[in-house]
This record gives sequence, C-alpha cells and structure tokens, in this order.
Amino acid sequence: MMSRYTIILAAGQGTRMKSKLAKVLHPVCGRPMVDHVLTQVEQINPDKVVTIVGHGAGEVEAVLGKRTEYVLQAEQKGSGDAVLRGEPVLGDLDGMTLVVSGDTPLLTAKTFEQLFEYHKEKGAKATVLTAVADDPTGYGRIIRNDLGVVEKIVEQKDASKEEAAINEINTGVYCFDNKTLFAALHEVGNDNAQGEYYLTDVIGILKQKGEIVSAFKMKDFEESMGVNTRGALANATRVMQRRINAEHMANGVTLIDPTTTRIDVGVKIGADTTIEAGVLLKGQTEIGEDCYVGSHSELRDAKIGADVTITSSTIEKSVMHAHSNIGPMSHLRPNSEIGEYVHIGNFCEVKNAQIGAYTKVGHLTYVGDATLGQHINVGCGVVFVNYDGLDKHHTDVGDWAFVGSNANIVAPVKVADHAFIAAGSTITADVDFHDVAIARARQVNKPNYWDKLPHEPEN
Ligand code: UD1
Ligand code: CA
Repeated sequence: MMSRYTIILAAGQGTRMKSKLAKVLHPVCGRPMVDHVLTQVEQINPDKVVTIVGHGAGEVEAVLGKRTEYVLQAEQKGSGDAVLRGEPVLGDLDGMTLVVSGDTPLLTAKTFEQLFEYHKEKGAKATVLTAVADDPTGYGRIIRNDLGVVEKIVEQKDASKEEAAINEINTGVYCFDNKTLFAALHEVGNDNAQGEYYLTDVIGILKQKGEIVSAFKMKDFEESMGVNTRGALANATRVMQRRINAEHMANGVTLIDPTTTRIDVGVKIGADTTIEAGVLLKGQTEIGEDCYVGSHSELRDAKIGADVTITSSTIEKSVMHAHSNIGPMSHLRPNSEIGEYVHIGNFCEVKNAQIGAYTKVGHLTYVGDATLGQHINVGCGVVFVNYDGLDKHHTDVGDWAFVGSNANIVAPVKVADHAFIAAGSTITADVDFHDVAIARARQVNKPNYWDKLPHEPEN
C-alpha cells in the first residue's frame, strides 16, 4: 500500500479569538481542538504525522506529546509557508499527504478515508475536501469551470463579488501527491490581500501545469466547521456535544435533556444510568450502571460505582463506591473516597478523606484530612478541625463510633472503634474503645432567676 503522511497546521495565533491561548489549544468538550484533529488522524494510521507549530509551540507540544513530530514555523507567513516547513521531514518521500488544520475539530477519520479513496479513484495529484455552506463568509471559495472541474481556490479577502457568491467552500483539508505538493509550494507567491503564502494557491498552480486536480464534496458542512472565533467555538462545541450525547444514549444511558447536559469527550457512563438536565461531566469522569445524577451536579475526574445517587452536588477527583449517595448541595473535594452504602447528606464538604462503608454524614458537616471507619454516625454540624493556621493534621475515627452533633474534632486525634462523642464536645485528646467523651461546660439551671433579668413589657 502507498505510504500516507499527515501534516497538521497549528502555528497560527488565531487573532480573531482575541486570546492569550493559541487557537488550536482552545478546548471543545474538554479536549484541545488540535487534539481532536490528531485523534482522528491517528485512526487512519499514517506512516508519519508532522505538526507545524509556532504560536504557543511549547504548549502545543506539551499537549500532543510524542504522538506526532513537530516542525517550527517561526514566522506565520501563511498556510502555504507552514506546509513548506515540513519539507525537511517529508520532502523526499513517496506517497500521499493529508493536510489538515488544527482548528477543524469536528472532522472524522471516516471523511479522511473517503478523501483518500476519491483522490486515488481520480488519479489526482491534489484533491481538496469541499462542502456547501449556507453562509460561506470567511472560507475560501471553490472555483469550478463550465464542466464543473476545479480551477482554483479564492480566499474571501481576494474574492470578486461573483466569486464571493459561490457557496462551495474549502474545508482546509487536502490530499496531495507528496512530492508534487512540495514542488508546487516553491512556486506559491504572496501577492494577495493578506500578503501571505496561501496553501490554497497550490490547487491553481497544479491545475495550470495540467495536473489532475479534483474536489471531493462532503455532505455534512457542520463536520467541516473551522473555528476562528469564539462564536464558532460555541457552535463546534454544540455539534460535538450532540455527537457525544447521542453515543451515550445509544449505549443505554438516559439523558433527560441532552441539549443542556455537558459531557466531555472520553467520559464513561454505564447503562441504565439517568442524567438529569443541566449536569456537567468533565475530564476523566467514569460513572457505573444504574446511577442517578441530578440537575446541576458537576463531576470532574470523578469515579462513581454502580447504583450511586448524586443530587445537585460537586465531585472533584474523588471516588464514590457502589450504592452510596450524596446531596443535595454537597461537595467532595480532591482525594476523597466514599465507601459502599455511605450516605452524605445536605451541605457537607469532604476533602482528602476516606469514609468507610455504611457510615452516615448527614448534615452540614466538614470532613477534612480524615479516615473514617464503617458504620459511623456523624451528627449534624460536625467539624473535623484539620488546620492550626500552619499545618494540616489528620483524624482517625474507628468503626461503629458515634460523633454527636456540633462536635469539633481537633486534629491530630484518634477516636477508637465504638467510641461515643457527646454532642457539642470539642475533642482534643484521643478517645478509647467504648469510652464516652463529653467535652463541654456542664449545664447550670438557676431557679427563679427570670425576674432578675430585664424584660420588655409583655403587652
Ligand atoms: C483557511 C483556508 C481557507 C479555508 C479555511 C477552512 C488558506 C489560505 N485558507 O482559511 O481557504 O476555507 O482555512 O477552515 O489556507 N496556519 C499556520 N501558519 C500560518 C498560517 C496559518 O500554521 O502561517 C495554520 C493555522 O494555525 C490554522 C490553519 O493554518 O490551523 C489555517 O489558518 P487560518 O488562519 O485559520 O486560515 P483560514 O482563514 O481559516
Ligand atoms: Ca481557520
């Protein structure tokens, strides 16, 4: 089989984004645009992938790592110049080269394959992937002759009125005979509205040399969407989100209102789980089967077992094991692990803590830097006092312990199995097995003291 190479263009600044971040690093559904592009490219198994970097080069390389080779385009002189930077790596090789932009995150490997097929079928030296746009503004236009054969591509800024009225656009994806591409690039000039070396000019140059040039028109314009502005970024996100959500539904997940559910690419959800409206599932989140995630919950890098109920809560970098539940309005901060059948109720915060099976933390409680055993009851308004103003300290509470409401447990401290802490206690020393700790002032009642106090008249 003929060798296949890919060049990804990712050196541009993306001026129209008005951003400090390089354009191709803006995320769509949790993944940088250029990562989406490379992920699709990888599925066609090219023999070599070269990414042209410039603006934010270091950051782009950090994101994509060793999955591609890199060539620096130090000065952004246009897409044609960008591809030409790849010559030292690719110039001597025989084969076909796919050129894609790092800012078209919705394109799929399937389309790339169709482009290759079409290119081979036509025996072409160059094939451009085109689409028909309702509003072609901003895209290069495909100029065909009377016979419908591609003649050239004209950029928006260089287009005459008639040319600008054409709605077949250049998606920015091409398949070239590799050596023919680099030879033609040396002939590209920059005498145009932007003073740039346009890759698009290669099409006209090859055509004039009498080479076979073809255009493959894809059906779905949306898939070809190029992101140059924040508005386009939002549109691309909407399309990608629809794809992701459709896939989860196909896998047996109920999304009550898929238009408002935001799920990052790569999130895993088990069958028969129900996700309510307005839920955010981010990063490396994984959710088991038969779970319920209620409205306005946000899960970031969360690992959730089967049959877990989450209502209006936020979970970050934490684990909830099967049959546990949380919320409404509770927050698991990083490095928390919630055991099976645990109940975390209303307005609780848990940070860097392990909570054993069947333990209940029902109301208005902070558990920070603690290890709790199984079958513990933590009353209302308990505070694990973990910070002395300088350092964080750890608390251990054993199995079957009882922590009364409004207790403060001042770390570092150990509360043994079956220990009992009376409500309102401030615990500063260890509590042993079967001990009852009471650490509060004793109640004093003063008989008939009422008259000695000032009062408002009762009428
Ligand atoms: C480009 C095409 C246009 C097409 C559109 C599709 C050109 C001249 N025009 O326009 O016909 O309809 O894509 O989305 O190619 N880049 C570099 N170095 C540079 C300039 C650009 O690496 O010096 C990269 C950018 O990072 C980007 C890609 O090339 O990934 C395209 O550049 P961009 O400025 O977005 O071109 P468009 O105006 O969108
Ligand atoms: Ca673009």
